Amino acid sequence: MNIDFKTLAEKYQTPYYVYDFDHITKQYEELKSSFRARKSLIAYAVKANSNLSVIKHLADLGAGADCVSIGEVKRALKVGIPSYKIIFSGVGKSDDEITQALELDILMINVESAAELNRVEDIAKNLGKIARISIRVNPNIDPKTHPYISTGLHENKFGVDIDTAKRMYIQCKNSEFLEPTGIHCHIGSQLTQLQPIKDAVKIVAELVKNLKAIKIDLSFMDVGGGLGIIYDNEKLIDTYEYSQSILDAMFGLDVTVVCEPGRFIVGNSGVFVTKVLYEKVNGNKRFVIVDGAMNDLIRPALYNAYHKIEVLNDNKNLSDCNLVGPVCESGDFFAKNIQLPQTNHNDLVAIYSAGAYGFTMASNYNTRGRVAEIAVLNGQDRLIRRRETFEDLIALEEEFIK
Ligand code: LLP
Repeated sequence: MNIDFKTLAEKYQTPYYVYDFDHITKQYEELKSSFRARKSLIAYAVKANSNLSVIKHLADLGAGADCVSIGEVKRALKVGIPSYKIIFSGVGKSDDEITQALELDILMINVESAAELNRVEDIAKNLGKIARISIRVNPNIDPKTHPYISTGLHENKFGVDIDTAKRMYIQCKNSEFLEPTGIHCHIGSQLTQLQPIKDAVKIVAELVKNLKAIKIDLSFMDVGGGLGIIYDNEKLIDTYEYSQSILDAMFGLDVTVVCEPGRFIVGNSGVFVTKVLYEKVNGNKRFVIVDGAMNDLIRPALYNAYHKIEVLNDNKNLSDCNLVGPVCESGDFFAKNIQLPQTNHNDLVAIYSAGAYGFTMASNYNTRGRVAEIAVLNGQDRLIRRRETFEDLIALEEEFIK
C-alpha cells in the first residue's frame, strides 16, 4: 500500500478512513479467478463496507451482493449491481423488507426459519409473485473463530438444521408461490482454518444431492463468506485450496457456486488514520490520546480485536501505553499495553486492516460526526464520504424543538 497519510490528513483532516481500491480489485480478482473453471458468483457482503463507491467499484468488476437489510439491497441496486446478482439474508426480515425484496425481483431470499418461509409465502401470494428461495442451513460446525463472529453452531441464532431445511424445501416445491432456488451456509467470520469450511460444504452438498433425488433441483450453492485476513501474523487459507475444496465437494452437481466474502475483499485495503492529541500518565500508566475513538472503530472495544498500529514519527524511544480516544468510556481504546514511541501533538497514527467492519459499525456516540472516507485508485485520492458536521447530526431532530 503506497498511500501518503500525511498529505491526506492535510487535505481532509483527521480522523479518516482510507481505502486502497487497487487492493480491493486484487482481492476480488484473486477469488473470482480461483473458481475459473466453474460458474461462480462472488456476492460481496455489503455489511463489511457499504460505502457506495466501494460497492460501485465491485459492481464494475462484476460482483454481486450479499445483503442483510433492504437498505443494503438498495445500496447495491443504486450502484448498478443487477437484481439477479443480489441475495438477501438475515434472521429477522420484516414484512416490509420481504415485500420490497419481492418487488425488486432479487436473485433469492435467503430464509433462516420455517416461520419466515411461511411469511414469505403469504407475502408472495398477496403480491401474486413467485419468491425464489434459498435456505440457510446451520451445519452445526465449530468454525474455530471468535465466539461473537461464529455462526454455524446450533447454539447460534442463524439458519435451520438439515431436517428442517428438507421440510422447508418440500414446502417450497409444493407451493405455487415459492421456488426452491439455492442453498446457503455461513459458519463464521475471520476463518483461518479450511477444515471447518470443508466439513460444512460437504454437509450442504450432501443435502443438495438428497434433494435432487426427490426432484428438487437447486441452481445455486452459496458457501457464505468468512475468509480471514491478516491483522497480526495469521496464516491464511489459500484461496485456490479454498475454491478447490468447495468444487470437490460439489462434484457431480450442476450448480453455480456463490460465495459472500466481505472482510477478504475490503479488510486489508483500509486504514483508519487518527492523530495524537495528548499524552498523559496516571500513576505509572501511560496513555496516548488520539482524536479517533471507539465510535469510529469499535472492533478493539467490542471483540478485543487486534489491529496493527503505527505512529508515524521517527521517534525510536518505545514504551508501554494504552492508545485511547476521547469518548467517555473505559472501553474506548484501540490497544492496551502496546509499545509505542513518545509522541507529539498532531503525530499521525495509522490503524491497519480497518477496511471491513470499521466505518460500517461506526456510530455518533458522544455526538461525534462520522469521519471522512477516502478512496485511493491509481495513485489518485478521492473523497467518497464527507465528514459529518454538527448540522448533519441534529438534522433529524431539529424540527421537533420549535
Ligand atoms: N455472509 C453472511 C451470511 C454473513 O453473516 C457474513 C458476516 C458474511 C457473509 C461476510 O463475512 P466475512 O467474509 O466478512 O467474514 N463485525 C464482525 C464481523 C461480523 C460478521 C457478520 N457476518 C467483525 O468486525 O469482525
